[in-house]
Amino acid sequence: MASPLNILFAVSEAVPYAKTGGLADVAFSLTHAIKEYGHEIRMILPKYGMIRDRQYTLRDVIRLRDLEVPLGDQKVLVNVKSAFYPGSKIQVYFVDYPPYFGRPGLYVDPKTGKDYEDNAERFALFCHTAFAVLERLHWYPDVIHCNDWQTALIPPLLKEVYGKEGPLAKTKTLLTVHNFAYQGVFPKEKFRYTGLPAHFAEEDGAAAYYGKISYLKAGLEYADVITTVSPTYARQAQEDPEIGAGMQEILRRRAQDFYGILNGVDYSTWDPSSDKEIPVNYTFRSIDRKMENKKFLLEFCNMPFEPEIPFVGTISRLVVQKGFDILLEALPVILEKDLRYIILGVGDKEIEKKLKSLQQRFPEKLFVHIGFDERLAHLIEAGCDLFLMPSRYEPCGLNQLYSLRYGTIPIVRGTGGLLDTVVDVDENPQKGTGFVFKKYDAKELVQTVERALKWYQDRASWRKLVVRAMKQDFSWKNSAKEYIRLYQQLAKMK
Ligand code: ADP
Ligand code: GLC
Repeated sequence: MASPLNILFAVSEAVPYAKTGGLADVAFSLTHAIKEYGHEIRMILPKYGMIRDRQYTLRDVIRLRDLEVPLGDQKVLVNVKSAFYPGSKIQVYFVDYPPYFGRPGLYVDPKTGKDYEDNAERFALFCHTAFAVLERLHWYPDVIHCNDWQTALIPPLLKEVYGKEGPLAKTKTLLTVHNFAYQGVFPKEKFRYTGLPAHFAEEDGAAAYYGKISYLKAGLEYADVITTVSPTYARQAQEDPEIGAGMQEILRRRAQDFYGILNGVDYSTWDPSSDKEIPVNYTFRSIDRKMENKKFLLEFCNMPFEPEIPFVGTISRLVVQKGFDILLEALPVILEKDLRYIILGVGDKEIEKKLKSLQQRFPEKLFVHIGFDERLAHLIEAGCDLFLMPSRYEPCGLNQLYSLRYGTIPIVRGTGGLLDTVVDVDENPQKGTGFVFKKYDAKELVQTVERALKWYQDRASWRKLVVRAMKQDFSWKNSAKEYIRLYQQLAKMK
């Protein structure tokens, strides 16, 4: 192996500490995969209100106490705590600044459902603190791997402020975008918190964005390498203005430095053979035992156990991206059919309300659980027969990958990572692993559910389909290597 690299992984959520979506899963599993290949990777994360010192054995680090971190024209004192990931030697630094992070929500105030007013300040402070930590520790990584807008100020700050000269001058940045629609857009008045030179906010400046500023845009301009989380989404983000969401021109300009690398799955957490959250473990050799999980989940939903009736699940942030407009339109038709359906999600209040009222209309068929519930997510993967993910767009998507491994056949809209990971079984009977529809449309969604239900009736074929789905391998093995190759390429640059 080439010499081990030093990587700082900067991220705003990570399992098991704080999670709103797939980013948290990726932060955990990718860092562990890279560590497995023998590299030194450390993580930096905000210490939110739900991260308890005792639960995760967070320790004070004398050297990281009272860091003086710039915030606008002031300096504030920030403490950084540290912990090792349970079961591995990955070190995690927690940015402990209670006025900004000691809250119940990560980005959104759970009381109002709206973004926190001071997100610009919060994540500018987070980015600056990352540099304060490196300087205090005298640890100068080869690459800082940034994720999404929350850490996107790091690349420009490195080039324009912290790494202009001195020990950080050789450090490079890689920015992974998990969703181009979240751009860290703020009014211009907030620019002063970034600590970047004034030209960034001026007309045509790297952070200027339709009269406002965007952290993501500044990151895309300054990162040495940009990646996103599937090859198809990488292509769509350059070609399709809805998916590129205003960033497509930068991406086209930077096409030489822009890569789509498919996310992997942490099968030590998401595999029915060892999953600790589910009542009965099973493999593709013992699929019949999956039925016990179905029984358990139906009981949980107060529904009678009728083994032959297909059970459909959805686990999702309740946002437009995930296809809730067509799903809400299609549900009254779908729920007339002979099936059961469970939805787990939290998010947009309007969507929550509409789902709840559908549950009242179809109480025997639809169970809706509003909230974030890790255990129920595992139960749904294990207990359902089908998993529905009708995304409008999808950078990668993890739930369809989990579903494959649990033998819970995915029905997906063919976009982004969904297109890269699910093969339609009618189109390709030998290799098919699920059902894919192309047009973003409620009618097509209904027709595809009908197609799946028809397949389900043929028990022998269904069983084969389930076995094939369970045998798919979306582990990090290959994708982690692609990241490492990019790190190595960056480390060699002068
Ligand atoms: P995204 O990151 O866009 O939300 P992904 O499919 O990549 O979509 O990842 C979603 C992750 O979040 C999965 O691990 C899924 O199980 C989890 N998740 C989403 N909503 C909930 C919820 N309400 N309760 C528990 N887990 C959830
Ligand atoms: C984002 C995307 C999702 C992806 C996840 C992890 O939240 O919406 O598609 O799987 O990030 O990369």
